[in-house]
Amino acid sequence: MKTRDRLRIAMQKSGRLTEPALDLLNRCGLTFRQSRDKLFCFGEGEPVDLLLVRDDDIPGLIAQGVCDLGIVGRNVLSEYRLTAGREAEELAEWRALGFGRCRLSIAVPQELDYREAAQLQGQRIATSYPGLLGEWLRERGIDAGVVTLAGSVEIAPRLGTADAICDLVQSGGTLVANQLREAEVLLESEAVLAGAKALPSDERGDMIELLLKRLDGVIQVRESRLLLLQTSRHALEAVIRLLPGGPQPTLLPVAGQPDQLMLQALCAGEVSWRQLEEIKKAGAREMFVLPVEKMLA
Ligand code: PRP
Ligand code: ZN
Repeated sequence: MKTRDRLRIAMQKSGRLTEPALDLLNRCGLTFRQSRDKLFCFGEGEPVDLLLVRDDDIPGLIAQGVCDLGIVGRNVLSEYRLTAGREAEELAEWRALGFGRCRLSIAVPQELDYREAAQLQGQRIATSYPGLLGEWLRERGIDAGVVTLAGSVEIAPRLGTADAICDLVQSGGTLVANQLREAEVLLESEAVLAGAKALPSDERGDMIELLLKRLDGVIQVRESRLLLLQTSRHALEAVIRLLPGGPQPTLLPVAGQPDQLMLQALCAGEVSWRQLEEIKKAGAREMFVLPVEKMLA
């Protein structure tokens, strides 16, 4: 095969992962020239291009070497691993990306008194994930019929073509609209960065390493908050005890108020209203929670 010198990333053409995936790549310093309704987007600064495709095609494109990386749901990657045979063994989940969270679940009609998995014995279950569903059933020794459908899985019970379904659940709205309820969770999913287990030995390998480092920085920053507040020296100890985890806070004097301090703390995650109210009760005031734009520790 002809070798490429530019890195190629596959991602969903249009769907729930498209916007956040593009946003993430932008934050990593990658920008692209083509409009998003085109199949191919040329990278402007770095030698990294995008291929916009159907999400189910992404693992195969990586396995065949057409793309080096892909942003895809763990559900799609796992299903591919179970159904594609040998070539799927070369794929790795490089990073979990923290968006597109959903779960692959079995759902049953609301009126069914569901208590345990054994009730699925002999039932027909409609799904687009025959690999994952089949493995789950086998592990439990359940003999059920797997009805493989490409889409609109949720209407199968109403049409009488299945007794239950196995599909993605995010808000749960689709299940409610179809008078179904979640019975078993098979897989917790989110968007992941997938790629070949072995890095290419040319510049593309170096580019992947660079991208992974930037990605780690972006993911860490996205979850970080800077907390600023004022407190009296007297309340300082109580306030510090309530701070969410992170490195030691910085303390600064407040001009003209020797009894007061300004405290600055980096927090590892979101700071909730409840946490702020607790800290305030302990004696803090003038509190600010700021997002962190960039971080180089
Ligand atoms: C998924 C899934 C369900 C729905 C669940 O479909 O197949 O239909 O989302 O989401 P909810 O719990 O928030 O209602 P999606 O919209 O991603 O389209 P697709 O199945 O065609 O990929
Ligand atoms: Zn899909």
